[in-house]
Amino acid sequence: MKKIIFGGAFDPIHQGHINMAFLASKQLDADVIFVPSKVSVWKNTSHSSIDDKLALINIAIKGYQRFSIDTFEINNPPDITYTIETVKYFTSKYPNDKFFYLMGADQVNQFHLWNNAEEIAKLVQLVYFKRPDYEIDKNNVEKFNMFEIKGTMVNTSSTDIRIFDKLDISIEELEYICKHKLFLNQKVASFLDDKRYYHSCEVAKLAYRVAVKNKLDNPSQYYVAGLLHDIGKNNVNKEEIMKEHFPDYAHLPHFSYHQFVGRYIAEKEFGIKDESILRSIEFHATGIDHMDLLGKVVYASDKVEPTRDFETDQYIQALFKNAEKGFLVVLEQNRDYFIKKNIPYDNELTSKCFDFYLK
Ligand SMILES: [Fe+2]
Ligand SMILES: [Fe+2]
Repeated sequence: MKKIIFGGAFDPIHQGHINMAFLASKQLDADVIFVPSKVSVWKNTSHSSIDDKLALINIAIKGYQRFSIDTFEINNPPDITYTIETVKYFTSKYPNDKFFYLMGADQVNQFHLWNNAEEIAKLVQLVYFKRPDYEIDKNNVEKFNMFEIKGTMVNTSSTDIRIFDKLDISIEELEYICKHKLFLNQKVASFLDDKRYYHSCEVAKLAYRVAVKNKLDNPSQYYVAGLLHDIGKNNVNKEEIMKEHFPDYAHLPHFSYHQFVGRYIAEKEFGIKDESILRSIEFHATGIDHMDLLGKVVYASDKVEPTRDFETDQYIQALFKNAEKGFLVVLEQNRDYFIKKNIPYDNELTSKCFDFYLK
């Protein structure tokens, strides 16, 4: 049997890791063992972060029959396990198997500095991926007999995932991140009561899925906007913030305050500079004329996320099929609802929105 050892921080695992493992497994006709390291930068308490790390790897590799996890490094008492120890552990555990050790381009160039580099290279066949814009040190490739795996590395990093800049992970992993309040979600949860937090997660996931299904650029932007859309909801200083920063809208009905305060918090507390995200938060409750697609998707996702107390599936399907048209369907449903329930919608922003889109 052939086995690939794939070590790393996996902090968290993302599609780039999965692609590397998949290509290596195919080209070498080998199983892949993911060996996460103990060191993690997620949280101060390493216990829960290791559990979260393992849970996310398990979700990510589900469905890949040749992929598995080994917790040798996590269970090893020292915080840092040297690769030589890991390699010896595997080669003695499976003495009849042939082992490969999978590396990224940056590791290739550093390899001569690793502890017991030569011994590692004797015990396992070193294999690596090239990376665009990264010069591989040919000396190390020759000296340690490294073998190149063909394929393009996906340009994703774990940092991108942690700051939600590029969410190259599955919806199941996003579910987990929401449920366990990891990364940016942890901060969002600190601003909201639980009910509002979980509603925001639903809006984020739905907006993200709408973006993916419609093949829109940058679905992460949809996720972040959805996650932050109600961030002003539980703020106790809404009136003051309105008076000071949004005086032109202070005469609007009170329910709308949280959208403006939300924009304010997203900018001030979360450092959001993307005007499209900020605007989608600023008008998500009332709507407005001339919304961009992100604004429309956030507006619609807020109204029809799956935990709302009415049957929303037909609206979600409409959004998946076509985000622009789906938005109009949701908007019309919303206006009908106001009329049926006798809820006044004569504030200037909602009127502008309905007049502009529902002629
Ligand atoms: Fe809201
Ligand atoms: Fe909402």
